[in-house]
Amino acid sequence: MKPLLIAANWKMHKTAAEAKAYFKEFWPLANGVKGKLIVLCVPFTCLHALAPLVQKTTVCLGAQDVHFGEEGAFTGEISPRMLTETGASYVIVGHSERRKLFHEDDELVNKKLHAAISHGLKPIFCVGESLEQRNQGKEKKVVASQVLNGLKGISWPSLRNVSIAYEPVWAIGTGVAATPKQAGEMHTFIREVLEKEFGQDAAKAIPLLYGGSVKTDNIKELTSLEDVDGALVGGASLDAEKFSELISNA
Ligand code: PGA
Repeated sequence: MKPLLIAANWKMHKTAAEAKAYFKEFWPLANGVKGKLIVLCVPFTCLHALAPLVQKTTVCLGAQDVHFGEEGAFTGEISPRMLTETGASYVIVGHSERRKLFHEDDELVNKKLHAAISHGLKPIFCVGESLEQRNQGKEKKVVASQVLNGLKGISWPSLRNVSIAYEPVWAIGTGVAATPKQAGEMHTFIREVLEKEFGQDAAKAIPLLYGGSVKTDNIKELTSLEDVDGALVGGASLDAEKFSELISNA
């Protein structure tokens, strides 16, 4: 069985010093938990600080965004090569906060996915509908189009490093997670979309994570669903003790 992929998304939280203190508390608690692959997606400024600490552990480091270019006049941006040099192996792409607050569309997300893959980064590609879209019964249509547009021009086996995180926007940071039924239905649907477009091998291999108000007390139920291969955890990953408890509950 594939290990469950449990990824933390710290968002804009923690300085480098705080990240180091977190990890020193976290690892003794999480070390020894079997069957889980832990990824910490941290602010850019924490990557170098954490790299030597995670080196002797099974924890992987990830960033939360990446630019698609090699280099150039893109003030404030970070390239894939800059990330891989820090020791990051994962990167979140297309998070709904980036889509909404920084106007990232499917086309930009697609460019970032191409760039990340070609540099050997493992993207955690986020999709998910808004509450309005769900209320209008459009959630599957929206998610299918995000998946297909985001992965345009990429095929199996290049997709083997991609994970997809289904994060309904209405569940992020609200304390209201999708019900197991809602999450299960969408994950099975994404699996079908992947199979139709990329074939059975891709559909089987691509880990599908659930994200949105994952907590210590709902992680087990969500990750026991057939098509849920892990979780992307925001708020509940910020406290080392709580996050290690969440991981062992998964
Ligand atoms: P949350 O965030 O766990 O705080 O809801 C999840 C995410 O945005 O990835």
